[in-house]
Amino acid sequence: MLLLTTITGVRARRRDLRLQGRTVALVPTMGAIHEGHLCLVDRARELADEVWATVFVNPTQFGPGEDFAHYPRDLEHDRALLAGRGVALLFAPSDKEIYPRPSATVVDLPELTAGLCGTFRPGHFRGVALVVTKLLSIAQPEWAVFGAKDWQQAAVIRRLVEDLNLPVRIEVAPTVREADGLAMSSRNAYLDPDERRAATVLIRALRAAETAITSGERDGEAIRRVLTEVVASEPRAQLQYAAVVDPDTLQELARIGRLALLALAAHVGATRLIDNLLVEVP
Ligand code: PAJ
Repeated sequence: MLLLTTITGVRARRRDLRLQGRTVALVPTMGAIHEGHLCLVDRARELADEVWATVFVNPTQFGPGEDFAHYPRDLEHDRALLAGRGVALLFAPSDKEIYPRPSATVVDLPELTAGLCGTFRPGHFRGVALVVTKLLSIAQPEWAVFGAKDWQQAAVIRRLVEDLNLPVRIEVAPTVREADGLAMSSRNAYLDPDERRAATVLIRALRAAETAITSGERDGEAIRRVLTEVVASEPRAQLQYAAVVDPDTLQELARIGRLALLALAAHVGATRLIDNLLVEVP
């Protein structure tokens, strides 16, 4: 696996590959690589001749008081895991390489980012949209692969690629879970053993709401109440939001039709966790 830290290096490699007629699928990450990331790599391998990954803890998507300074960083470990899964090139730039000076350009999708996580993390999706636009422009992959775990993020990226006519296809791969259902996340490392047990309340709430839907419930508010009540039953969890939305537009649904996205954010101890479930009505 090739480890590159400069934009010039990535561009040169891209040029060579294009001359050979080889395609690239990109997997952007912030490192602290886990099985969720590695499943995106597996999916990427099915899409293109080479899989490229990025590890960059993007400062512009962290708010003041968020965990930018403490975010787990271990490039050697990440490098070994990604190489072991067949990644051909890892781009791990410095902050200065990506932001030689503060960006004067803003990539903002207010319609998609006013609700859900956007309400509680002002500016977060502007940071994500900016860095993903830059990474796509630097690597120029045929494909880029993202996880359904961060559904709102994937919706934002799909839409910005469409709106800006970026020449890349976006693939969204399913959420990878621990055996007890907890969605894998780099932030799960922050949980102590009691919090780790309590953290399963997110998937339990989502599954209870899904069961309500399969049993015939169609009212958005009633489904939201199921989510809220299950999370409230766990004393270590503090709900931030529970939502029943259209999976594309992310707008709240008063009544659900064929598809609904159930989405949750909660603090378990000091750790903020998110999860979601796409429910297809039979
Ligand atoms: P990060 O949190 O490292 O996640 C990188 C990618 O892995 C994202 O597409 C995310 O949705 C996916 N992912 C994380 N946990 C997953 C799981 N349990 N199952 C499936 N996919 C999972 O998301 C980011 O980084 C950043 O915002 C980034 C897009 C890299 C921009 O900085």
